[in-house]
Amino acid sequence: MKLISTIRERLGIKLFLSYLVIIAVSSVMLIGTAEFLSPTALNRHITRMQAVLGDHPGLAADLFENFNAAISEILTAAIIVALLAAIAVSIFTARRIIGPIQVMMKASHNIAAGDYHERINVLSEDELGALARSFNRMAEELEETEQRRLELIGDVAHELRTPLSSIRSTMEGLVDDVLPADPATFMNVQREVSRLQRLVQDLEELSQAESGQLSLEPRVVTPNEFIRPALERLENQYQDKGVDLKVHTAPDLPKVWVDPGRITQVLLNLLGNALQYTPSGGDVTVRVWSEGQEILTEVQDTGIGIPPEHLPHIFERFYRVDKSRSRAGGGSGIGLTIARYIVEASGGRIWAESPGLDQGSTFAFTLPLAS
Ligand SMILES: Nc1ncnc2c1ncn2[C@@H]1O[C@H](COP(=O)(O)OP(=O)(O)OP(=O)(O)O)[C@@H](O)[C@H]1O
Ligand SMILES: [Mg+2]
Repeated sequence: MKLISTIRERLGIKLFLSYLVIIAVSSVMLIGTAEFLSPTALNRHITRMQAVLGDHPGLAADLFENFNAAISEILTAAIIVALLAAIAVSIFTARRIIGPIQVMMKASHNIAAGDYHERINVLSEDELGALARSFNRMAEELEETEQRRLELIGDVAHELRTPLSSIRSTMEGLVDDVLPADPATFMNVQREVSRLQRLVQDLEELSQAESGQLSLEPRVVTPNEFIRPALERLENQYQDKGVDLKVHTAPDLPKVWVDPGRITQVLLNLLGNALQYTPSGGDVTVRVWSEGQEILTEVQDTGIGIPPEHLPHIFERFYRVDKSRSRAGGGSGIGLTIARYIVEASGGRIWAESPGLDQGSTFAFTLPLAS
């Protein structure tokens, strides 16, 4: 039983046994063929030799016996040599095959133990080489995921620290009678608490988006179905701040295949940002038109703009151009990240352009037409 389970568990022994089986089968075939063919062949040759040597009594029987013994001797020696050669070859090939597998096994144990730097040398172009390459790809992705996880924890801790320390210092001020127990003080605390609440909500959505679990219920919709709700929601805030909101939608826009609620969420974020980063008296213009197989939506403002060195980063989570300014406005730098996930999951692209500081910004995204 122990022998069987050892054989089952060891690829090297299996390979060795398979070589032995091949040798055994070939030997049986060889001996069988020799046994079958040798009497006829020997008799034919002995008859020819008799013609040369003359017909001595008992010569044919002697020759037959001796030739037969010679054939058996040669076959036995050949089988033993073949067996030894097979053992040598099987040890060599088993090492070639099992060596890389053992390396991969060790590497995967190390990865499981948390060492994500582990990589394998790709030594061949065959299936084992391909396996090693895909192992390395997997290790790379795991390392990136781990890196993102650590960054996320760091970012979240950092985002929580500011409102928490603000609440704490207000509370200490109240306890020590340094701050008056009036509505303004409590409003301060309330503001920080709502910021925390919004942050937690955004984080929940961000983690869903990053793990690809953002729920989307796409259907065939006209662009108006996601534009109008966003405009209606923000109209009053635009009026209150004194920022002019203009809308240009091309007539007869084709239908798109998206989740309208989610695209409204994207627009709310872009329009919210435009309002937040555009001073009173400025303009924000929404344009919607179709181009090729896509619908393009653009939100252009005449606000504070984005310096070119920040443009490539603003869709990264927690990225804010002016950290103190946008934090004061309640921003945590997650809105655009979620917007990008939604647009990309809907089959579109999103990007930002800005000529520079104080020269306004333009955000645009595409959506696929319903086919
Ligand atoms: N229209 C804009 N004009 C100038 N800067 C902008 C504009 N929109 C976004 N930004 C910059 O990009 C950053 C990221 O925007 P994002 O919407 O992701 O975060 P946020 O508005 O700070 O916070 P929130 O997560 O609440 O939306 C902002 O902090 C801001 O610096
Ligand atoms: Mg925002």
